[in-house]
Amino acid sequence: MLNNLKRVRTRHLALAKNSSEPISMLTAYDALTARVFDEAGIDVLLVGDSAANVMLGLDSTLEITLDEIIMMARAVTRATRRALVVVDMPFGTYEASDEDAVRNAVRIMRETGAAAVKLEGARTSTIGRIVDAGIPVMGHLGFTPQSVHALGGHRVQGRDADAARLIEKARAVEAAGAFSLVVEMIPAAVGADVSAAVDIPVIGIGAGNGTDGQVLVWADAMGMSAHSPSFVRQYAALGDQLRQAAESYRNDVRERTFPSTQESFDH
Ligand code: KIV
Repeated sequence: MLNNLKRVRTRHLALAKNSSEPISMLTAYDALTARVFDEAGIDVLLVGDSAANVMLGLDSTLEITLDEIIMMARAVTRATRRALVVVDMPFGTYEASDEDAVRNAVRIMRETGAAAVKLEGARTSTIGRIVDAGIPVMGHLGFTPQSVHALGGHRVQGRDADAARLIEKARAVEAAGAFSLVVEMIPAAVGADVSAAVDIPVIGIGAGNGTDGQVLVWADAMGMSAHSPSFVRQYAALGDQLRQAAESYRNDVRERTFPSTQESFDH
């Protein structure tokens, strides 16, 4: 079903879950990669706040601003024809009050042309208010990077007794009106249990193979990150390839073998 769509919409993700069709999602932060991933048939593009690390070289996702993510999301939607584009609400843009959250979600939708926003935590009142404003919300539970300090570092969540609490939170996020949910760094069995416990599609990252879909940070999966988490599969070694290509170009320039006469204008 997903394969035949001209444009992926939130309701299509629900249909995909109903027919057990896995949903593919990748991050994208610019027009260059968004075009390629869209052409490859990735169903959902997430303008994630991981852009803080990947694109801006910052230490944590806490540092990216609303203006920065809006600028990136505008580039992504411009280059996307088919995929559903979801934009992360940065740290500090939805915690202080539901009014703030709605105002900032409206800005994201109005200025980027994206189809949905994503926010971390079981903030049911905030999710409900944004959904009431007509904006689809994707939730995010398990390891939530914006709470890295409160969680005591990058640690697997939802183990043992916490599994039941995580499932309760997932049900609450669904009841608040979220159309979908990301679960990050939880045991595979818990990923499957969360997916079975709710009707909305659950997209996993480091959450095993039993969720309704998978998401990865593209730079981790394509070999562009200095360090990738252990749950990431390497689909390409683009960093090495780019370095080699840049070295070849540098050598050609130094040896004056580029440009050739064919690569030059003769008059
Ligand atoms: O910002 C991001 O890339 C994310 C994914 C890890 C789901 O939220």
